[in-house]
Amino acid sequence: MTSTAHVGSNLNAVDKLMSNGHNHLHVQDKYVFPPGERPDMSQVCHSYTFPVIDLKDFDGPHRINVVDQIRRACEEDGFFQIIKHGVPETLMKSMMDIAKEFFEMPVEDRFCFYSENPQQDARVSTSFNVNKDEFFEWKDYLRHPCHPLEEFINTWPQKPALYREVAEKYSKEIRVLVLRLLAAISEALEQDSDYLNAIFGKHSQTLHVNYYPACPNPDLTFGVAPHSDTRGITVLMQGDVSGLQVLKDEKWVAVEPIPNAFVVNVADQIQVVSNGRFKSVMHRAITNTSTARISIPTFYGPSLDTFIAPAASIVDKEHPALYRGYKFEEYMRASWSKGVKVRSILDRFKIEISP
Ligand code: OGA
Ligand code: NI
Repeated sequence: MTSTAHVGSNLNAVDKLMSNGHNHLHVQDKYVFPPGERPDMSQVCHSYTFPVIDLKDFDGPHRINVVDQIRRACEEDGFFQIIKHGVPETLMKSMMDIAKEFFEMPVEDRFCFYSENPQQDARVSTSFNVNKDEFFEWKDYLRHPCHPLEEFINTWPQKPALYREVAEKYSKEIRVLVLRLLAAISEALEQDSDYLNAIFGKHSQTLHVNYYPACPNPDLTFGVAPHSDTRGITVLMQGDVSGLQVLKDEKWVAVEPIPNAFVVNVADQIQVVSNGRFKSVMHRAITNTSTARISIPTFYGPSLDTFIAPAASIVDKEHPALYRGYKFEEYMRASWSKGVKVRSILDRFKIEISP
């Protein structure tokens, strides 16, 4: 049995990456989750559909209808899909294609970005946090900050040759979309449209490209183990291979891809600001035996110097603050130091309310 702590720390990066052409051919012990923590596909619900929201009317006379749908989705599901969102389909395809090319290049071309430091801005890595993970996730990823663009673009990969150009266009379009969503969510919280934009300070935007190779035994592994997202809001391009599952009424529900839609979810900071009214829910990604899957989430939220707390106008005698205020950096430090077993760190910021 391989030890799971600091697995293979004496291996070089090429040997650690899943995308080296051979690591995914059999399931090594470090990827096997313990019985009771495995996906249990027989219990997954395929009959519930998360709300599909058409953003076409958001900037017209029916804005209030869109805001109502977003409010309901954030309160009841924490997840929804959006269509007619304004991001060109050709650009979505170019981003997906270049992401695929990135992971299909010889592994040596990714290796120069390899890092095991969760605070390293632009990096390629594997699993979640290899120095802390009790079990390894079946994935490699590339991640890099995107905003402010001028500050970070020089840290992005230059291979494939068009990577920077495509990722720049994509991240700018996603930012425009996110700013509209933040306005909608602010309105859904009965705040000014600018509310979340303002409290997110200088903002942070990080693009992830997750690469999940086909897996010989999906029953034992996770692409991403159950977790909630730490930032403010996540906008995910799921591609056309399913794998995302979301916890709804204590059941895992499969989120089937809709062509050219984005999956949007509330992340922890919006749960805190809304004082628990909008839900940052658990989700996970499973692997499959036949096809490598690429998903491209953008994690968008406050800058590290921002102070986050439940909105003053939402808190009153009947709705006391459920969370203490904190500098966002404190939250991220807790996140950077956790392994895959810790599903959420929200509870650490909860205020105990005596009955
Ligand atoms: C994530 C995530 C889901 C997916 O990267 O945080 O939840 O479908 N990914 O890849
Ligand atoms: Ni996630």
